[in-house]
Amino acid sequence: QFPASVRIVEVGPRDGLQNEVAVPLEAKIALVEALADAGLTTIETGAFVSPKWVPQMADSAQVFSGISRKAGVTYAALTPNLQGYQAARAAGADEVAIFGAASEAFSQKNINCSIDESLARFAPVLAAAKADGVRVRGYVSCVVGCPYQGAVAPADVARVAKALLDMGCYEISLGDTIGVGTPATVSAMLDAVLAVVPLEKTAIHFHDTYGQALTNIYVALSRGIAVIDSAVAGLGGCPYAAGASGNVATEDVVYLLNGLGIAHGVELQSLARAGWAITAALGKRPSSKVGLALQAKCQQ
Ligand code: HMG
Ligand code: MG
Repeated sequence: QFPASVRIVEVGPRDGLQNEVAVPLEAKIALVEALADAGLTTIETGAFVSPKWVPQMADSAQVFSGISRKAGVTYAALTPNLQGYQAARAAGADEVAIFGAASEAFSQKNINCSIDESLARFAPVLAAAKADGVRVRGYVSCVVGCPYQGAVAPADVARVAKALLDMGCYEISLGDTIGVGTPATVSAMLDAVLAVVPLEKTAIHFHDTYGQALTNIYVALSRGIAVIDSAVAGLGGCPYAAGASGNVATEDVVYLLNGLGIAHGVELQSLARAGWAITAALGKRPSSKVGLALQAKCQQ
């Protein structure tokens, strides 16, 4: 049944801002600090990827060096290869994430190699991280659908998830990168993955393109999954998934968990305020329904 508590992995500063051009460094730093102050304990703070591919993340080292760190918070980074891993460690990332895909076409577009080649490139990252005592998270993208090849078979997701687990990832985050899943397709995907990945090592990472993310999260919660990725204000999208909107909003997830009586440690009002602050810096409004509902309170 439902877990008693959930760990929220806040991906706004990375997944959210990787699609936004020219975000001032100070706004990024303020966002990470506000999220930690709101009670988030895992914050994906940046990505050490090629600046030619994703220029939006080119200042990640400065974000890491600019933040005042809070005790008990894990500041994580996305790293596609050993070069990224070394840069992330030099910048002070506590934890890293490698990212594979369940779709061949997406793997090629996103990281310029096949799925199997990507797994080979991740091996040295895992070896180095093991030697350094650093935890590695593994993402699987396109777990329901792919922007280039359409529907993705649950068995393909399970294969990549299992491979990342066997390589040493402590947790596998299942990404509905383009937000096309519904409870039916998400359930079928979870059936396949949970047959090969332990429940306690499984996380979900849903984008909200078609407005199904919270419903799909409810499905995952009802199966006992206790790690949820989300982005404050519903920021985001993926530069290699045209039309995909942001991650499910952290405010919306927190409101859902509050309603279900599931512990999470995040203070909703402070979180919503962080969402209004970063969207103001971007010249937009939060896409979180809960954030919008709390607007008046956020301005007090
Ligand atoms: P490539 O061009 O095949 O790499 O890109 P390469 O090894 O041939 O190197 C080419 C150049 O990139 C070289 O520089 C390298 O030094 C440099 P040059 O000699 O031309 O000046 N380079 C790097 N620079 C900085 N950091 C690095 C790095 N690696 C190589 N780590 C590569 C392959 C993987 C690097 C590239 O495709 C890349 O950076 N891709 C990242 C794409 C990305 O960040 N996508 C968004 C994140 S994934 C996502 O959002 C999904 C997720 O949220 C889950 C979900 O929603 O499902 C995680
Ligand atoms: Mg994502």
